[in-house]
This record gives sequence, C-alpha cells and structure tokens, in this order.
Amino acid sequence: MTARGRFITLEGVDGAGKSTHAGWIADTLRAMGHTVVATREPGGTPLGETLRGLVLSESMTLDTETLLMFAARSEHLAQVIEPALARGDWVVCDRYTDATYAYQGGGRQLGADRVAVLEQWMQPALQPDRTWLFDVPLELARARLADARQPDRFEREEAAFFERTRAAYHARAAAQPGRIHIVDSSQPMEQVRAQLYAELQAMARSAP
Ligand code: TYD
Repeated sequence: MTARGRFITLEGVDGAGKSTHAGWIADTLRAMGHTVVATREPGGTPLGETLRGLVLSESMTLDTETLLMFAARSEHLAQVIEPALARGDWVVCDRYTDATYAYQGGGRQLGADRVAVLEQWMQPALQPDRTWLFDVPLELARARLADARQPDRFEREEAAFFERTRAAYHARAAAQPGRIHIVDSSQPMEQVRAQLYAELQAMARSAP
C-alpha cells in the first residue's frame, strides 16, 4: 500500500512574499526525491480557475464570495488534492481554508463561525500537515504590493482590511500552533529558506 502524501499550504496577506517561496518549496521537495503537485486556491482545476477569475474581479455579496471560495475548493479537493495524496505525492498549495477564515472571516468580518460551518460541511477530515504563515508588518506588505502588477479586488482593499486579515491569521496560528508555523517574511530570503528547508527535512523524516 502506498503511504499517503503530505499536504503543505502557504498563507499570508497579499504582499507577504508567499508566492515567491511556493516554487522554491516544490523544487526543493523534488530535489529531495518526492513527487510534488504544486497548486493554488482559489483555482487548481479548470472550473476553479474560472471561479478565481470571477471572485478576483466581479463585485458580489460576501456570502457569494465565501461560497465560491468553497465551491472552487470542493472541486480542487476531489479532482486534485485527494487523488494526489492517495498516490503518495506531496501537495504544495498556495492558500487553502485558512485564507477563507482570514479574508472572508476576518478581513470582511463574516466571522469564523460561518466559515467553520462550510468547512465542516465540505472537508471535516482534511487538514494540511503543515501550514506556513508568511508574516510581515502591514507597511512592508503594502509597499511590496505597490510594486505589483494590476491589483485585484482584494489587493485594492484599505489598510484596515489587511489588519483584520492578518489578525485572523494570527488567531488561527495561535489556536493551531502544531500545524501553522509563522515565518517572519521580513527576514532576508536566505534566512526564510533556511527555516523552510529545516522543516521540510524534518517532515520528510517523520512518518506521515
Ligand atoms: P493570491 O494568492 O495572493 O495570488 P496572487 O499572488 O496571484 O495575487 O490571490 C488570491 C486572492 O484570493 C488573495 O487576495 C486572497 C483571496 N482569497 C480569499 O479571499 N479567500 C480564500 O479562501 C482564498 C483561497 C483566497
């Protein structure tokens, strides 16, 4: 029987530097001999990518936005994440359910309870094995975003939205410190990668 793969998710407010590390994490795992599926949310399937296009550009109610995040996630779990883990692959996913707690629950003030209802409905058992929360002070995240290409609906939000989103991420990390590890993303890139590399090696050594 094939051992189940590992599920790693990457989180953080826009501009925290998460996406910079996503490709490097996948490459590092491949160099360690693992088969890796690198994917993202919202998205990761043809329908999910269509939903991503809508949710990042169209105005909609908060309920619609939240349900679309979970609709995309449902497809992603069924078509990509669960089959990959069953094959024994490692899945590296740029954002997952913690993002809904942070952005819709915190940033948009839906509250964690409402998000929890949908999480329970859809995927009560599947939690990431490790989540890295890339964390930077808000001013640094905003400065990095200012250099970015065309901002999407979330990236255009005001500073208070990101404060609430970051606070909700911190609350998640405080509640689940075994799974969610905070990475100080204001450090030089080599230091961030040294922390990630040490954790990846420890994960690869431990039983799934
Ligand atoms: P992001 O992951 O930052 O991608 P990029 O680096 O290409 O900008 O963009 C996805 C956006 O979607 C981000 O602003 C956060 C938002 N989002 C939510 O609001 N809720 C969710 O559940 C997820 C997965 C993402």
